[in-house]
Amino acid sequence: MRKLKCCRRNPRRKEVNMKTDVAIIGAGPAGLMLGHLLRQAGIEAVILEHRSADYVLSRIRAGILERVTVDLMKELGLDDRMNREGLPHDGFYLADGERMIHIDMKELTGQSVMVYGQTEITQDLMEAAAPRGLEIIYSAEEVALHDVDSDTPHVTFRKDGAEQRLDARFIAGCDGFHGPSRQAFPASVGKAFEKIYPFGWLGILADVPPCNDELIYANHERGFALASMRSKTRSRYYIQVPLSERVEDWPDDQIWDELATRLGPACTENITRGPSIEKSIAPLRSFVFEPLRHGSLFLAGDAAHVVPPTGAKGLNLASSDVAYLSKAFIRYFKKKEEAGLDTYSSTALARIWKAERFSWSLTTLMHRFPDAGAFGRRMQVAELDYIAASRAAQTSIAENYIGLPL
Ligand code: APR
Ligand code: PHB
Repeated sequence: MRKLKCCRRNPRRKEVNMKTDVAIIGAGPAGLMLGHLLRQAGIEAVILEHRSADYVLSRIRAGILERVTVDLMKELGLDDRMNREGLPHDGFYLADGERMIHIDMKELTGQSVMVYGQTEITQDLMEAAAPRGLEIIYSAEEVALHDVDSDTPHVTFRKDGAEQRLDARFIAGCDGFHGPSRQAFPASVGKAFEKIYPFGWLGILADVPPCNDELIYANHERGFALASMRSKTRSRYYIQVPLSERVEDWPDDQIWDELATRLGPACTENITRGPSIEKSIAPLRSFVFEPLRHGSLFLAGDAAHVVPPTGAKGLNLASSDVAYLSKAFIRYFKKKEEAGLDTYSSTALARIWKAERFSWSLTTLMHRFPDAGAFGRRMQVAELDYIAASRAAQTSIAENYIGLPL
């Protein structure tokens, strides 16, 4: 493993001191991608992750990659497995009862998305870290940020019982929605915008062929359903459930029955049932924190924003954040220019809010809301009628789905 810039033990305090250019908190996709982009440019970075590598890889995440993520993996030279195993998708369906509206992304925009599990992306990034000199310290406990409003911030943590200190020029908070980085912003500096949805998604992963070649987002009177996939032999499905539901109360058969009903005619006959490999319920939330910078601390990915999974923007937004942030850091370290750092927050937020709008609007269009009433339902039908008949409306959906330009 590569040596850190400096590493010394203080014998009296049993403290290990390290120094790097950018301390990254969190080894999710945001932290890993940022770390690799910096290392590729010859900038030192250390990632502190409070979980084990196995735990991080056990989290099942969405599976749609926009161009920004595909390009980023290519730029890092880590796209071999993605190109081999990923499935390019040219379109998807919006279903409403019996009606299926095809959104032909390729025809409408000239572009496609890539179906490749986000967990696979994380694995590819993790495996390449050590060979490329990107240090990841797993199982780092009690990670705390200090002096973030100065030019000499540092992070303290415990590892194997020893107190450790990592000094850095910058800290990148890539520690997800529950991490400590956002909390390090003074209350007077940050503002949070949030919408909680009154339902969750119950997901099931199974080694069965998908019911359809393309994804189907279905609005059914019993609630939303999504048919997705990881490969030609592994399917990922979701159904909308009330927040009060517990996954233990959902035997596999009951989930397959709901899917067959909700996904409509295209899937009812074609669903292959099989034992679940994973089942979980995730709540839906829209969340944005502004600004993304305080002094030497920068937020990226879920630490700064969360989208409901409808449209699979989570990882792709993390990709655009770190594409902007890595360029800003590289400009600073290579040319001593701070302009990129100064504009990072506003540049990234402009794209974040557009993805938030799209995820919220697709969620609103395709789910059954307990308090929507007959009027709310008519609005959904009218919008779906409009989309079905309008190339302009379909193009708008397609260009948001494939991802807005950086
Ligand atoms: N100390 C260190 N690490 C922490 C701490 C902490 N106190 N708290 C959280 N972390 C780690 C988590 O264990 C996790 O590995 O930060 C990481 C954050 O990763 P994600 O939650 O995956 O967030 P992010 O990297 O921003 O992911 C972006 O990718 O897979 C998708 O759906 C996911 O929308 C998300 C997107
Ligand atoms: C998934 O495959 O897990 C998935 C796909 C599309 C979404 C959300 C999740 O919009």
